[in-house]
Amino acid sequence: MKLTPQQSLLHWYETHGRHDLPWRTTNDPYHIYLSEIMLQQTQVKTVLERFYFPFLERFPTLQDVADAELDDVLKMWEGLGYYTRAKNLHNAAKTCNGTLPTNAYELMQLSGIGRSTAHAIAAFAFDESLPILDANVKRILHRYYAFKARDEKKLWEYAYTLFDPSHPFKFNQAMMDLGATLCLSKKPQCNLCPLNKTCQGKTDPLTYPEPKIKAIKPIRHRAIILYTQDNHYALQQRKEKFLHGLWGFMQIEDHPTKESHHLGTITQHYSHFTLLAEVYLCEQPFHSEEYEWFDIEEITNLALSRADHKAMALLGYNSKK
Ligand code: ADE
Repeated sequence: MKLTPQQSLLHWYETHGRHDLPWRTTNDPYHIYLSEIMLQQTQVKTVLERFYFPFLERFPTLQDVADAELDDVLKMWEGLGYYTRAKNLHNAAKTCNGTLPTNAYELMQLSGIGRSTAHAIAAFAFDESLPILDANVKRILHRYYAFKARDEKKLWEYAYTLFDPSHPFKFNQAMMDLGATLCLSKKPQCNLCPLNKTCQGKTDPLTYPEPKIKAIKPIRHRAIILYTQDNHYALQQRKEKFLHGLWGFMQIEDHPTKESHHLGTITQHYSHFTLLAEVYLCEQPFHSEEYEWFDIEEITNLALSRADHKAMALLGYNSKK
């Protein structure tokens, strides 16, 4: 019996799919939405082991997110990175008054929900018949159609061509699993792939897609200064777009001008640059309207960037809860 590629894929998913992922065994749209946002830039393992359940425990419903202060949402996002996701989630929760719309078109109007994410939520929560196009699916399509150009419009066409409109949930989850377990970027396992009979790129999978032109990451040299008085430390809540809403110590481009004690060096990699910071403790008088003073216990209740946690660690404190 000759199976269509879609049948082969679904058949493979039955036996090899990751069926017990918690966002696949629920039909709560909020749980599915949360998982899709967390999984946008973070691996399944990290989301599963450290972030998904604590977040749901703290905010059992989307209404709870809508009613919360942004600070509290950020605190639960701490360590997950790409904090704009948390801000958008909070914003979206308020916009829809705690109840998500039930179709992709309306989902896409909410902050932080792009087309592929909207399709994923709509397919998984409401069985809307739409394909997804995340990074893993893109790689599969590039190879399956032997298509090199990083052309989003064309890839959407291919996504619809390969899609099985009768099984939106299973087809999309299967594509994600195929991308995560077999159609790997560096070591594709073509011999095990359910699509290998019809895949046009299987003889030279590593040539699809064409390589990205990678910009070299610049290094940002900074000094982090921990001003301290009476066992309290001066922190500021970030107002700029980058790491918005997180609390942090003073960060300057130059060396400290006041007498300070050098504690060590920290590095932190971000998507667009690497931070290389010398960390100093300064006990000189300091006053600024923009800073507030917290003791160690209070600091553990704030959402801090990873770099600031590393600075705290140089002091000998673990500031994570
Ligand atoms: N990445 C994004 N969405 C996912 C899902 N539903 N299952 C596994 N990995 C994912």
